[in-house]
Amino acid sequence: MSFVLWKPCYCIGDHKIDNQHRRLVSLLNFLYDRIQEACSKKLIDIILMELVRYAEEHFRDEEALMERIRFPELSHHRRAHEKLLYEVFKFKEKFDSGLASKMDLLHFLHDWLITHIIDEDLKIKKYL
Ligand SMILES: [Fe+2]
Repeated sequence: MSFVLWKPCYCIGDHKIDNQHRRLVSLLNFLYDRIQEACSKKLIDIILMELVRYAEEHFRDEEALMERIRFPELSHHRRAHEKLLYEVFKFKEKFDSGLASKMDLLHFLHDWLITHIIDEDLKIKKYL
């Protein structure tokens, strides 16, 4: 059973962006599976860094798409991406210092990703 279930209603209608969102969900599920197997902290860090690296790449592609279609809320959305990156590093500090558990981390990442897709990314859909 996956930790995060991809739902068709998360699709914004752009093939590349939707695939990137699916990949982010897969990475989260991969992290969940490794945590269920009681993997090392080092492996959690590696997966988290890959998640952040891929999220940055994805944000750049999504912002390029918003520019191409002249999405009116581009600057707001760009700031939301910057905030997401800041939040994930802040949460990692909390996790590293023992103030958040592995499950807290997973729940944080779930909301971090899915809330952004629902509240922000889906707004792009009607401009495609
Ligand atoms: Fe976005």
